[in-house]
Amino acid sequence: MKILLTCSSRHGATESVAEVIAERLREADLTVDVAKPEDVTDVSGYDAFILGSAVYMTHWTPEAVDFTKRFREELEGHPVWAFSVGLSGLPKGAISDPHRIGPVLLALDPEDHKTFAGRFDPNQLSLRERTIARLGGAAEGDYRDFDAARQWAGTIAASLTSGQE
Ligand SMILES: Cc1cc2nc3c(=O)[nH]c(=O)nc-3n(C[C@H](O)[C@H](O)[C@H](O)COP(=O)(O)O)c2cc1C
Repeated sequence: MKILLTCSSRHGATESVAEVIAERLREADLTVDVAKPEDVTDVSGYDAFILGSAVYMTHWTPEAVDFTKRFREELEGHPVWAFSVGLSGLPKGAISDPHRIGPVLLALDPEDHKTFAGRFDPNQLSLRERTIARLGGAAEGDYRDFDAARQWAGTIAASLTSGQE
């Protein structure tokens, strides 16, 4: 069973979540390739897909959206999982699914879509990015929850190995 995990990250948080997911899947003896969506030119040979993107201005990155458009036909007929990394709703409440991601994923009919909390480190950002994030109500902090990512990957592994885990 070969899985393609695409990960679109600007400042590393989504990448780190993707690595945890890949590691957990490999523990279940699944083969996982991790790639940036814009680097993928061919998806033949993969049995399942996990698509991940950071959320900026309520959207997946253009590269992640573009991937879903380029390979929509090839993805049909294979199980697809999706995850987003963002800060919506933090730190006041639970993470809400980022607005407007729905239409992108609707076309793919994923098995599941999960939103993980990300990180807001002003030192990593340009002045413009910092200002937008603050205007959006984001509070500085690292909210990544690798246990949650591991757990989610465990459910994917169980599903792909027919519950033999
Ligand atoms: C300019 C800017 C805009 C953002 N817009 C959103 C947003 O609309 N929704 C959200 O949930 N998080 C938003 N975030 C938070 C990012 O998704 C979060 O910092 C995430 O960890 C980024 O992932 P990355 O490090 O993989 O790029 C924004 C952050 C920045 C800097």
